[in-house]
Amino acid sequence: MQIIGVDQQGTEKSLRSSQSIVAELQQWRKSQQSGRVIGLVPTMGALHEGHLSLIRQARRECGVVALTIFVNPTQFAPGEDLDSYPRTLDSDLQLAEQEGADLVWLGNSRDLYPTGFATTVAVPELADRLCGKSRPHHFGGVCLIVLKLFQLFQPTKAFFGEKDLQQVTIIERMVTDLHVDTEIVRCPMVRESDGLAMSSRNVRLTAEERQRALSLSKALFAIEESWRGGDRMVHSLIEGAMSVLDPDLELEYLEMVDRNDLSPVVGEAKGDVAVCIAARAGEVRLIDNITLEFFS
Ligand code: PAJ
Repeated sequence: MQIIGVDQQGTEKSLRSSQSIVAELQQWRKSQQSGRVIGLVPTMGALHEGHLSLIRQARRECGVVALTIFVNPTQFAPGEDLDSYPRTLDSDLQLAEQEGADLVWLGNSRDLYPTGFATTVAVPELADRLCGKSRPHHFGGVCLIVLKLFQLFQPTKAFFGEKDLQQVTIIERMVTDLHVDTEIVRCPMVRESDGLAMSSRNVRLTAEERQRALSLSKALFAIEESWRGGDRMVHSLIEGAMSVLDPDLELEYLEMVDRNDLSPVVGEAKGDVAVCIAARAGEVRLIDNITLEFFS
């Protein structure tokens, strides 16, 4: 496995080093045989089974698998958890190697956002919904880094998890709108055995907060059960879920949306519906979602 962005000792390359990770990556890209299927798995590291499932899917579908690790500052607002975001580089590299990644590329802000950087990317409407209401700049930052990665890697396919349903929906829109020649592959959400959606941020939960956090998925599963039982009324489905949700969580939203454009579903739920939730347990912001299949 090749690594770009670490020195001979395996520690993150000194930012004084002369060759930028961008130039090194461009060389790597040029050295790839034409016609090989290149799969890209973008991450912010602190890898868990959710990330590994993406690498495995990329491994199955692609001749070359590249993993990126970069805690991208432009998707965090001041006061959010950029500084406390978990960083576990040694174990990430080990896991990437075990899963058979061909390349791990570590981003850094000096090379990716040099002085004078001024470009923005926006997908309004989609980015303003759900998480966008409390994180208005978040998806602009996500689009910017993902588009940069697409420019640099020119991947045949890129793998994203449905854990971040709004994120993958926005990226698909951006790729279509800007004629990016990369296929976006949606990968299913991976959960802990008790139902908690896997997330790098889960390690920051205390035992008590984790217990509370579990009620996010319980609330979603309660909706699924009522849905299977035939209930299609948004207000009664949401009401049922609210009764399961731990009252000590700070709920940001619990919404039923059209899975295609994330617009709110009102009245009676029909078609492709996703239920999305975001809440805070202590300092940790958590998101989760489920898709409701239509049972006639
Ligand atoms: P990160 O949160 O590290 O997630 C990287 C990828 O792993 C995303 O596509 C995310 O949806 C997926 N993922 C995370 N948890 C998952 C789970 N439990 N099951 C399945 N997939 C899961 O998302 C980001 O990083 C960043 O915004 C990024 C796209 C890298 C841009 O900076």
